[in-house]
Amino acid sequence: MTEINAANAGTLSLGDQTFNRLGYGAMQLPGKGVWGPSADPQNAVAVLRRAAELGVNFIDTADAYGPFTANLLIKEAFAPYNGNYQNLTISTKVGFTRQGPNEWTVVGRPAYLRQEVELNLRSLGLETLDLVFLHRIDPKVPLGDQVGELAKMQKEGKIKHIGLSQVSVAQIEEAGQYAKIEAVQNLYNVTNRKDEAVLNYCEAHHILFVPWFPLATGALAKPGSVLDNLAKKHQASPAQIALAWLLKRSPVMLPIPGTANQDHLAQNVAATNIALTDEDVQAINALQ
Ligand SMILES: NC(=O)c1ccc[n+]([C@@H]2O[C@H](COP(=O)([O-])OP(=O)(O)OC[C@H]3O[C@@H](n4cnc5c(N)ncnc54)[C@H](OP(=O)(O)O)[C@@H]3O)[C@@H](O)[C@H]2O)c1
Repeated sequence: MTEINAANAGTLSLGDQTFNRLGYGAMQLPGKGVWGPSADPQNAVAVLRRAAELGVNFIDTADAYGPFTANLLIKEAFAPYNGNYQNLTISTKVGFTRQGPNEWTVVGRPAYLRQEVELNLRSLGLETLDLVFLHRIDPKVPLGDQVGELAKMQKEGKIKHIGLSQVSVAQIEEAGQYAKIEAVQNLYNVTNRKDEAVLNYCEAHHILFVPWFPLATGALAKPGSVLDNLAKKHQASPAQIALAWLLKRSPVMLPIPGTANQDHLAQNVAATNIALTDEDVQAINALQ
């Protein structure tokens, strides 16, 4: 039987940190609407540890997930980040506040971003954050003030690498005047490829591209569809085919599927074993 391990996806690096090219997103761990405590904290910790057992060593979170619920679960699962957990790369995000279930407000004032970096360090139990994404650009604050504050904290040793989320090519280029942008996290999946230009830019500039909502298949997966037929051909689910397609789409692609379910987790990691042919990929590319 083929081993289920995220290492089958190959690796990517940020500075001296190397990680497997299939990660895990922790947004599904807090309560409904990404608000409040997990419905089953013990299970949430078990899912995180199982992810590490399956070779997942890139974990994406944000202090806004809960707020703090996802970070505290990660700390409970992995701190003090030694032994089997010493090679984890954890990305987090700043610049979003929460007021209730499914409510998000952008706040990009430098003092707030600094507080969030400090609170991410504390809630994750880390001394340095591997990768910090600006969750959204706050249109009310100059971009240089937002990215500049992250760059200051990078110089102070609080942050190793800086990324942006939900941005255009022009915004990546503008932000690049204030800091080295090493990762971009945008909505991208088989049903939504609006950010092809951003992905192509990232590939050309060796920037990691982290597609969020990677499993979305929507109507493209209905019985008899191309995705459904490919799923049958590869003895997989349409969601697994969507992940396999993302992995094949670009070498800078780093999907972070999220789940609070151990079976789903194993299925997502097993997608790294699916070898889509060029013909399969062309058939998916033609869908829109
Ligand atoms: N930068 C941003 O603005 C932004 C926005 C959204 C998300 N994100 C990040 O991206 C990560 C992934 O995005 P996402 O959570 O929105 O989308 P996703 O990973 O594509 O999908 C998650 C959903 O799919 C279900 N699921 C997971 N694996 C499954 C499987 N094998 N079979 C069937 N259902 C499955 C999950 O429910 P179960 O728990 O029941 O499995 C959950 O409802 C998040 O965790 C977060 O870290 C970032």
